[in-house]
Amino acid sequence: MKVLVTGGTGYVGSHTAVNLIEAGHDVVLWDNLSNSRAAVVERIGALVGTPPTFVQGDVRDAAGLDRLLEKQAFEAVIHFAGLKAVGESAQKPLLYYENNVQGTITLLRALEKAGVRTFVFSSSATVYGDPACVPIREDFPRAATNAYGRSKIMIEDMLSDLVAADPRWRIARLRYFNPIGAHESGLLGEDPQDVPNNLVPYICRVAVGREAVLRVFGADYETPDGTGVRDYIHVRDLALGHVAALRYLQAHPGMLTVNLGTGHGYSVLEVVKAFGQACGRPIPYEIVARRPGDVAQCYADVSAARRLLGWQAVHDLDAMCGDAWRWQERNPQGYET
Ligand code: NAD
Ligand code: UFG
Repeated sequence: MKVLVTGGTGYVGSHTAVNLIEAGHDVVLWDNLSNSRAAVVERIGALVGTPPTFVQGDVRDAAGLDRLLEKQAFEAVIHFAGLKAVGESAQKPLLYYENNVQGTITLLRALEKAGVRTFVFSSSATVYGDPACVPIREDFPRAATNAYGRSKIMIEDMLSDLVAADPRWRIARLRYFNPIGAHESGLLGEDPQDVPNNLVPYICRVAVGREAVLRVFGADYETPDGTGVRDYIHVRDLALGHVAALRYLQAHPGMLTVNLGTGHGYSVLEVVKAFGQACGRPIPYEIVARRPGDVAQCYADVSAARRLLGWQAVHDLDAMCGDAWRWQERNPQGYET
């Protein structure tokens, strides 16, 4: 298929582009580079033979999207473009609604006009808020605790209204758990532009000496070792989940909603230990107060993805940490090096 990948130079988008190309799809990346670098395109090229077409553009730019969609006949869109920092979304809610919600509306309008009705959306486990129990199934109630999460819920709802209004749409809402890791070549990885908010990118910075010590946010949760438990999924597995979702949509019109996780929860201290083993030295950490808004445990029931997509994650925590470390060690300053 000819696939437009918005947010395609970002972390999940770039890894997915590799798998899409490897699966035989023809890929165009569309990204405003607000949180990524154009150097990614050459790296993807080094992995797959030829760099994919990259167009710098914003999903809020209706005219720009129209021009692109007039020139090229896409069969599907994977929509990664969006802002994702939970803390920033609390400070700048309008920016998040404008970029994520308005951006998606503008994109969907352009797609409707061009007759492109196969759409894969990056949703998040954040839509489940603080779940009553784990593992989390797709039919659990949604309750976001921040503007970022609410932007995801709004988009999810918009998409289900769209499918109800016009059954020609084929839409997947993929709820990612915690993507970590990097391409095993060390060529692609996560390259946060500021001080990282997320656990593994922060550990990576500590491991290369760019940060002194990891702060572990709370050791008094009701979890086996008191630290938060999450469903970390290798970004390469997540990428393959998108290829599987596209395949599913080719055969099934309507709406697909699935969790993409491993079904296993790991605590912060388990991740710290695994990363220390991967990089060959312990990661210095200190226990500090809980981070506001964090939940104790969040991991997926992955049976729907297995049943509907024939997909399941295969990489374990050691592989995730090993690949994250290879990327960081070879690119201590990210894509700048
Ligand atoms: P990322 O920031 O690396 O990638 C997002 C990309 O979108 C960036 O390259 C950025 O430049 C681009 N972008 C942002 N706004 C844009 C706009 N208006 N127009 C065009 N491009 C724009 O983030 P990621 O981790 O790759 O996340 C991809 C998607 O997955 C996001 O929608 C995110 O909310 C969602 N998600 C991510 C996680 C995670 O932990 N990484 C978890 C759940 C869901
Ligand atoms: N943590 C620390 N220290 C840090 C960073 C994180 O102890 O410096 C802890 C957190 O308290 C939490 C765990 O590590 O227990 C994971 O935190 P992350 O920030 O890596 O991930 P979250 O689960 O908080 O959130 C992530 C994304 C969201 C997404 C959510 C659900 O940031 O966008 O996963 O998929 F919605």
